[in-house]
Amino acid sequence: MLLGAQWGDEGKGKATDLLGGSVDYVVRYQGGNNAGHTVVVGDQKYALHLLPSGILSPGCTPVIGNGVVVDPAVLLSELSGLAERGVDTSKLLISGNAHLITPYHTTLDKVSERFLGKRKIGTTGRGIGPAYADKINRVGIRVQDLFDESILRQKVEAALDSKNQVLAKLYNRRAIAVDQVVEELLGYADQLSGYVADTTLVLNNAIDQGQVVLFEGGQGTLLDVDHGTYPFVTSSNPTAGGACTGTGVGPTKISRVIGILKAYTTRVGAGPFPTELLDEDGEKLRTIGGERGVTTGRDRRCGWFDAVIARYATRVNGLTDFFLTKLDVLTGWERIPVCVAYEIDGKRVEELPYSQTDFHHATPIYETLPGWSEDITQAKTFDDLPKNAQKYVQALEEMSGAPISAIGVGPGRDETIQINSFL
Ligand code: IMP
Repeated sequence: MLLGAQWGDEGKGKATDLLGGSVDYVVRYQGGNNAGHTVVVGDQKYALHLLPSGILSPGCTPVIGNGVVVDPAVLLSELSGLAERGVDTSKLLISGNAHLITPYHTTLDKVSERFLGKRKIGTTGRGIGPAYADKINRVGIRVQDLFDESILRQKVEAALDSKNQVLAKLYNRRAIAVDQVVEELLGYADQLSGYVADTTLVLNNAIDQGQVVLFEGGQGTLLDVDHGTYPFVTSSNPTAGGACTGTGVGPTKISRVIGILKAYTTRVGAGPFPTELLDEDGEKLRTIGGERGVTTGRDRRCGWFDAVIARYATRVNGLTDFFLTKLDVLTGWERIPVCVAYEIDGKRVEELPYSQTDFHHATPIYETLPGWSEDITQAKTFDDLPKNAQKYVQALEEMSGAPISAIGVGPGRDETIQINSFL
């Protein structure tokens, strides 16, 4: 399993894609088109939002698990965009139990954010929260409902009954017509039917037969609705446990849990971020690292590496390894600060505080490591790295609680140093 160890955007697409050639299935287990993976293959750059990055590896079956929320319009346009570029998308499997994001979810996401004003979450506006809210509230629409018009209509009616009241009376918006939604959704049914499968059965059978299944988390550990910086989180479980509930594969069948960890830290949207840099160093990280969201185009907030967060990710996910990404972005700094602990109300704190108030008050305690100026993008082995870059990686590994098994030194597929095999 691969998942984000920070606030998302750690470079998971590259990691998944790197493994794609040697795995049989790549599975997304949560989130939706709020995610954004950029994968660079040769001179081609692909931006994926909903589809698992395994779709770019011939021979690999991409799977959208039951825990994902699917916007059918986005899915179909992503599929046709790839097909136009010659990518074979015919192997995709979609769980019939995955929930749909409908136009009313997207509308509600946007109006409720506006309503929150300065307390807003800074969502991607893709309808993620409202779709998961309906799932938990048992008024969601699932992929399988597309194939039974009468059930679909009943469910849309049930969902819109109260939502139209809210839209009209609270947000002063026009009510959404049931017919219009049903018609739009039915329009997707034929195009999607060939992809729908009992993915839980398919994946368990594949594992039992010794095939390699890779679970790919969207977002990251600190955006987890249970373990993240609530309420500034997404509405699903990107942490390791989410892979079990989001696919129907039990924890005893998952052997490796790899945390993707950027060599510094970024975050999109609102919420606490102790090592955030609001100075020219932050701007430099943003520019060199290309830190602009794939999904929303928003600038990412940037800061130094935070080992407290990395340790927390190791703990809540049971990480077996790290994939350290974007080390090359740090080339050229004379000294690189790393947050090793926090100071909260005058006390040194080594672990992520469980209290939201404490986390908001956390000030980073930095240790400063010597930087390097040599270009590292051509490095193929750990020994190829300049001594100070080696020391930086070793220091991060010691602080973070799991071995760093791969290092990204550039955006390309082959700009990676593999230290231990992931399989
Ligand atoms: P939502 O997932 O659109 O509801 O947004 C909730 C929070 O998660 C916001 O702070 C978003 O910026 C953040 N978020 C959602 N998806 C991603 C992602 O793929 N990378 C980074 N942040 C994300």
